[in-house]
Amino acid sequence: MKKAGIIGIGSYVPDKVLSNFDLEKMVDTSDEWIKTRTGISFRRIGPENACTSDLGVEAAKRALENAKLSPEDVDLIIVASASPDMIFPSTACIIQSKIGAVNAAAFDIQAGCTGFVYALTSAVQFIGTGLYKNILVIGAEMLSRITDWKDRNTCVLFGDGAGAAVVSEVEEGGILSSVLGADGTGADLLALPAGGSKEPANPDTITNRRHYINMNGNEVFKFAVRILEEAARKAAEKANLTIEDVDFIIPHQANIRIIDAAIKRLKFPREQVVVNLDKYGNMSSASIPVALDEAYRDKKIKKGDKLILVGFGAGLTWGANLLEWNLED
Ligand SMILES: CC(C)(COP(=O)(O)OP(=O)(O)OC[C@H]1O[C@@H](n2cnc3c(N)ncnc32)[C@H](O)[C@@H]1OP(=O)(O)O)[C@@H](O)C(=O)NCCC(=O)NCCS
Repeated sequence: MKKAGIIGIGSYVPDKVLSNFDLEKMVDTSDEWIKTRTGISFRRIGPENACTSDLGVEAAKRALENAKLSPEDVDLIIVASASPDMIFPSTACIIQSKIGAVNAAAFDIQAGCTGFVYALTSAVQFIGTGLYKNILVIGAEMLSRITDWKDRNTCVLFGDGAGAAVVSEVEEGGILSSVLGADGTGADLLALPAGGSKEPANPDTITNRRHYINMNGNEVFKFAVRILEEAARKAAEKANLTIEDVDFIIPHQANIRIIDAAIKRLKFPREQVVVNLDKYGNMSSASIPVALDEAYRDKKIKKGDKLILVGFGAGLTWGANLLEWNLED
């Protein structure tokens, strides 16, 4: 198998900021509650005339520029999203057309907030076998479109954004191990119930607000803490390393209490954990690539650093990649 690594990275978040104080005017909540229970202060909201693919396009262009490649060089696009433009066709096909990646195959992956890790792991296989050379892996979300702005249990958590990575063959480093998992018995814990074949759209599904994110927060919380630790440890083991060998952990950005509890269990230094959820909330499959891009641009991570990307989400799903960073600062 050839070695695969990230040779370009980029991200994009919309300009519009929604603060906890704005939310105080929309639902029965407070800045204090949101901050202490989640760690979130702000989130970004996409423009009315945009959709998920538009955010993905901006991130993809930045990643290609960083990789010094043109859209014609891309031979596969994988998009992870829990809020695709449509059920079909895939958002990957729409992005392919919008950026003019005329030589690329394209498909979507649905793995909730673990989407980017699933997509990156898939890209590693295609590079490994030599089937494709340059793969755009995109995590893009317009969660604001599927958020119930009347439900205080969920609407304070999510935000819009996109992150992208170009994955290609590398001589050294790159993605050293990957772990993916799923437990479909937890499917009902986090879902968008209607609009698919089970509950097709009808006046009742609209009245009952079944086209919005529905979540059992407490159960997801417990699962998340346990699985973040497990997945990160497994990724290290699979790479014949230990957690002590890792320079930075970039976890899915859902709730600061989830991250802190998992990091404590891992006995990993807190200052080596990349966290940006205070600014953006939970951007589902965009959270990890946006945090990774920001850490790279802030010169926090350097070539040769060992990183763990670790996520969890609807499905239930989870996953982790351990990689040795290939990009120069
Ligand atoms: C959703 C979450 C923040 C709730 O935090 P929590 O500390 O578990 O709070 P609880 O659910 O126990 O609710 C405590 C109280 O706060 C209330 N509450 C919920 N949301 C609130 C809000 N935005 N503002 C004020 N009060 C709120 C609840 O109604 C409850 O009130 P009650 O005790 O009168 O019934 C937390 O469970 C969580 O983050 N879960 C994981 C969610 C997640 O990450 N999902 C995405 C996974 S990819």
